[in-house]
Amino acid sequence: MKKPPIILAAAFSVVAGLVTLSILFLAPPAQVRDWSGVTGDAERGQYVSRLGGCVACHTLAEGAGPLLSGGAPIMTPFGSIAAPNITPDRAYGIGSWTRDDFAAALLNGAAPDGSSYYPVFPYPSYARMSTQDVADLWAYLQTIPPISTPSQEHDLTWPFSQRVLMRAWKTLFFTPVEFQPDPKHGAKWNRGAYIVSGPGHCGECHSPRGILGNSDAARALEGGMGPNGKKVPSITAQALAQAGWTRGDVAFALFLSITPDGDSLGGAMGEVIRDGARHLTPEDREAIEAYLLDLPGTDD
Ligand code: HEC
Ligand code: HEC
Repeated sequence: MKKPPIILAAAFSVVAGLVTLSILFLAPPAQVRDWSGVTGDAERGQYVSRLGGCVACHTLAEGAGPLLSGGAPIMTPFGSIAAPNITPDRAYGIGSWTRDDFAAALLNGAAPDGSSYYPVFPYPSYARMSTQDVADLWAYLQTIPPISTPSQEHDLTWPFSQRVLMRAWKTLFFTPVEFQPDPKHGAKWNRGAYIVSGPGHCGECHSPRGILGNSDAARALEGGMGPNGKKVPSITAQALAQAGWTRGDVAFALFLSITPDGDSLGGAMGEVIRDGARHLTPEDREAIEAYLLDLPGTDD
C-alpha cells in the first residue's frame, strides 16, 4: 500500500530529528597531547603568534587598537563574528585561563565551558600545531599587557547564532591530528608543509569548502573564498607554475606583497603578509615556497 505523503514527511522529520540529536550528543573529536618535558618560551611564542597570524584577526587594524585586545568583525555568509580579546586581562581577556584551557581552544576548538568555537577561528588548522609551539604561544600571551576592553558581540543570523550547532559541525567535519612530516621529503619541505597546513592556516582561505563550511582535503589549496566573500586564487604547485611563479617569487611575495607580474597582493592577503608572513625569518618564507612550489633539490 502506498503511504500518504504526510506520513512519509512525518517519518522523515522524526529520522532527521533523531540524527541531529545523536550528532549533538556525541562527544566531538578531541586530541590529547603529552606535555611532559615541554616548557614554553615567550620569545619564541611571539614568533609563533606571527606564524599563526593571531595579530591580524585579534587586533584592530595595525595601530588602531592595543595588541590582541579584540579585532574588527569578520563578515561571513552567516553574519559577522569578531575575534575576542585574548590579552591576559582576567575580566575581559583570557587571564583566568589555564594552559590546558588554551590548548583545548587551539587544538580542539573547545571553550573552557565545553562549548565549541566557530571555525572562523581557524582551529581546524591550528589543531596540527606542535605541542612546543602551543606552549611557547601560551608563554608569550602571559607577557603582553592586559587590556580591559570587552570583546565585540557576534552578529550571526539564526540558526547559525546557535553555538550548539558547532558541536555537530565538529563531530561531522573536524579531525584534530598533530602534523606528521612526510618522510619522502626533507626538513625544509616539511617545515613549509607544517606552516602552510598548521599555524599559517593558508588553506582556511585557499582551499574550497562544501556548503556546510567543511574544507575539502582532496582539493587542498585549489582556491576558495576569503572573508567578505572574495574569491581566493589557487596556490597549488601547478596553478602557481601556470601563473609564472618560479623559485624566489613566493618568498619575495610573502615579504613585499609583490607578484611576479609586479601586481601587489592586497585585501586579505595583504593583511596576512603585513601582520604575519613579513615578520617571519627568510628561512621560513623559503620553506613555505619549497612546499608550495614543490621544489626539487630543496629537500635538505
Ligand atoms: C581568521 C581570524 C582568526 C585568527 C587568524 C585567529 N583567531 Fe582566535 N578567534 C577568532 C574568532 C572569530 C574567535 C571567536 C570564535 C567563537 O566565538 O566561536 C576566536 C577565538 C579565540 C580564542 C577563544 C577566546 C575566548 O575568549 O573564548 C582564543 C584563545 C584564540 N582565538 C586564540 C588565537 C590565537 C592564539 C591565534 C593565533 C595562533 C588566533 N586566535 C588566530 C578569529 C581568529
Ligand atoms: C584570510 C585569507 C587568506 C589567508 C589566510 C591566506 N591567503 Fe593567500 N591570498 C588571499 C587572497 C584574497 C589572495 C588574492 C590577493 C590579490 O590578488 O590581491 C591571495 C593570494 C595569494 C598568493 C598569490 C597567488 C597568485 O596567483 O596571485 C599567494 C602565493 C598566497 N596567497 C599564499 C598564501 C600563503 C602561503 C598563505 C599562508 C601563509 C596564505 N596565502 C594565506 C587570501 C588569503
